[in-house]
Amino acid sequence: MPRRIILDCDPGHDDAIALLLAHGNPDIELAAVTTVMGNAGIENVTRNALSVARIAGITGVPFARGSARPLVRTVEYAPDIHGDSGLDGPVLPEPTFDVDPRGAVQLIIDTIMESEPGTITLVPTGALTNIALAARLEPRIVSRVREVVLMGGGVHGGNWSPTSEFNIVIDPEAAHIVFNESWPVTMVGIDVTHQALATPEVRERIAAVGTKPSVFVGELLDFFGATYLEAQGFTSPPVHDPVAVAYIIDSEVLKVVKAPLDVELSGSLTLGMTVADLRRPAPADCTTQVALGIDENRFWDLVVDALERICDPEA
Ligand code: BDR
Ligand code: CA
Repeated sequence: MPRRIILDCDPGHDDAIALLLAHGNPDIELAAVTTVMGNAGIENVTRNALSVARIAGITGVPFARGSARPLVRTVEYAPDIHGDSGLDGPVLPEPTFDVDPRGAVQLIIDTIMESEPGTITLVPTGALTNIALAARLEPRIVSRVREVVLMGGGVHGGNWSPTSEFNIVIDPEAAHIVFNESWPVTMVGIDVTHQALATPEVRERIAAVGTKPSVFVGELLDFFGATYLEAQGFTSPPVHDPVAVAYIIDSEVLKVVKAPLDVELSGSLTLGMTVADLRRPAPADCTTQVALGIDENRFWDLVVDALERICDPEA
């Protein structure tokens, strides 16, 4: 049985690749795709998600627009990494379908409540705003989801501030809610995603697939590579979000350790810092775990395999 996931995302170059991986891998079924502000405003990231759906040939999956603002803080975007549109670089096609009228939070709730308990995995690859709102609006979802596997945070430092990662720091109150609910949470943070680098060898493998979606990924990585070099000094860009999807497909991709997790809400220097208590042993009732190691070859094999399976949807 494929794992049914809700991808809650802010496309976003790496979110787009996460969507392609989830769609192309036979062990994953996309139950819904929801958007949240982050890399750009909600209208932009939602349109980007729908355009990527067309490129990937995704049909029959509900997409819904989510939160335009964090729970408490002033909204922040990441144009220095993703451009003003959130997905600068490739020319995006017009979407072929529209969003679900329910909105992201209701779609998340409905999908979980209508599915067998323990079957839906939440995969947030942006701010945790929609997920936190859904947990507050319908608390029964917490015991019904199988697990939450999120891209965000970091144990050993940040990327948006010295201590804090973008997805968490732009809505730390939402992260607080998600980390402190009783559902199982796996934090896939920059400790591992900074090793998921689109090196020249990886890019050659993607180009060799030779399809329109693989050309699209190449164009995404051209832009992403240039901004990551300019903004953060990476010679090959870290492709964060698909790592969370890859872990669901193959748990051997990551080395994870059980540890209590929380987020700093009041530090003047450390707002949004994720704190993992790595003292041993983790308490018996600990429901959170953190990724500390990655097999990057295994990860890229999955991405390339998904692109090969997607072929040329519109051909
Ligand atoms: C995360 O922030 C966003 O810019 C990326 O899409 C990724 O989800 C990395 O810090
Ligand atoms: Ca993202």
